Amino acid sequence: KQNPMNLHQTVAREAEAAFQAAGIGGSAIVLQPAKNADFGDFQINGVMGAAKQAKQNPRELAQKVADALAGNAVIESAEVAGPGFINLRLNADFLAKNLQTALSDSRFGVAEAADKKTVVIDYSSPNLAKEMHVGHLRSSIIGDSIARILGFLGHKVIPQNHVGDWGTQFGMLVAYMVAQQQDNAEFELADLEQFYREAKVRFDEDAAFADTAREYVVKLQGGDAAVLALWKQFVEISLSHAQNVYDNLGLLLTPDDVAGESKYNDDLQVVVDDLTAKGLAVDDDGAKVVFLDEFKNKEGEPAAYIVQKSGGGFLYSTTDLACIRDYVGRLQGDRLLYVVDHRQGLHFAQLFATSRKAGYLPESVEAEFIGFGTMMGKDGKPFKTRSGDTVKLVDLLDEAVERATALVQSKNSELSAEEAANIGQTVGIGAVKYADLSKNRTSDYVFDWDSMLSFEGNTAPYLQYAYTRVQSVFRKAGEWDAAAQPVLSEPLEKQLAVELLKFEDVLQNAADTAYPHYLAAYLYQVATLFSRFYEACPILKAEGEARNSRLQLAKLTGDTLKQGLELLGIETLEVM
Ligand code: ARG
Repeated sequence: KQNPMNLHQTVAREAEAAFQAAGIGGSAIVLQPAKNADFGDFQINGVMGAAKQAKQNPRELAQKVADALAGNAVIESAEVAGPGFINLRLNADFLAKNLQTALSDSRFGVAEAADKKTVVIDYSSPNLAKEMHVGHLRSSIIGDSIARILGFLGHKVIPQNHVGDWGTQFGMLVAYMVAQQQDNAEFELADLEQFYREAKVRFDEDAAFADTAREYVVKLQGGDAAVLALWKQFVEISLSHAQNVYDNLGLLLTPDDVAGESKYNDDLQVVVDDLTAKGLAVDDDGAKVVFLDEFKNKEGEPAAYIVQKSGGGFLYSTTDLACIRDYVGRLQGDRLLYVVDHRQGLHFAQLFATSRKAGYLPESVEAEFIGFGTMMGKDGKPFKTRSGDTVKLVDLLDEAVERATALVQSKNSELSAEEAANIGQTVGIGAVKYADLSKNRTSDYVFDWDSMLSFEGNTAPYLQYAYTRVQSVFRKAGEWDAAAQPVLSEPLEKQLAVELLKFEDVLQNAADTAYPHYLAAYLYQVATLFSRFYEACPILKAEGEARNSRLQLAKLTGDTLKQGLELLGIETLEVM
């Protein structure tokens, strides 16, 4: 199924026909957006390779293709360059018609995906024993954006917040709750981080307490009602802390998306037994291990994926095996995305390999590890507080809003305190999210307040500001006609039109690869082009068709920025 609005597909079709006309197979085509708009809108590559195969002169062959291409309804001109590239310029009338369609469409010409999938996205997933810290920020923000993009393209998205709510730490915490309640009837869990630290100190120093804690672990796993009730109380408080952070960040996650480790407790033995029965898990010094030939170490020995410890205890791996069966079986996922710190890459590779062998993950289901790098401080070390503690997410977000509010106030002294606070919230949270989403997720990135809050460069404030600039044009525009066919005569008008019409391609690409930075880079490009267009082509001072066409370009720019930012989970403002 093809969307006539999809520029890339349409141009590719033309290119294919031209390749055929020149006597070469269409499969050789590589079509790219032009790197430099001065030379055209798209570039065709691949003639050189085809020429070599056919033992022909590449420039001559390229000329044949170019001749077959030029002058049709889509492509205005095709010029051979260098050793055999072909630079394409699109037909202005064709662009104008597409622009007109996009303007009349509530989805800006972006079609839903042809092949709709049920996508399970495992993200955020903090450990509930402690307060959420910056390590969970990336997973939460990236997962949220991927969920939004896939949802917009019509996929069924099932978020799963695989929180760490089970295991030995909880025995210790519950024991400490009991101890606290005995001392202090009013006891509250306001600061989980401190609570955890105190519990740990007591555990390390007080042997009797440590014994009680271990007893509680056994009771918890054995389903003791009283201990379970305390555990549940703890988990609920911790989850409500996490939900506050999600709400402050404006994430889509709700309490219904929580599917923590504890949920799979009853399946763990079942999984180990099943893997054993299938001959996959074998005894190794009392532990149960799956040997994976595809992960050999330097000595050529297969990797050992441990699924049960020698004492009978289960592991993170066991839980994830039970969980993946659930994603496929109960949730019927056909694409599984795990948005987790890149240090867990090997765990997931081995999880997927084991699951394939065990039949938990059929060939028809894709499973992808959506890894991301570490958030670094300006000193190049993992982001910490000045005293070297992990930074609590709540504090970080408060600081973002505070800084943004002060900044907004300093730029516009006419804002009331309340207005400044509202704008500061949107700009501050937007800046933190965008700083993350605009980088390739697989690399580490430096968390730097000054650069993320700058109004220049590839930042949220820059894009949010660009949006308000568009809005201010419309406050002064008076009457205009959104439905007319625009006329694109200036090079920058055409260039902006071409860019705006790439929205669908970019979204599909971001969805397929789960790389939100493709979308961010695109929005930055749109905003930058708009600003060049705005300088070169006066909008409100123009007359007649030109004025109307420029307003149409401005309208689609604003809509694209707003929708695009929304898909990154970032809000826009009418004024800043
Ligand atoms: N709770 C884990 C952590 O904080 C992340 C869980 C990721 N999801 C999963 N299915 N293992 O490291």
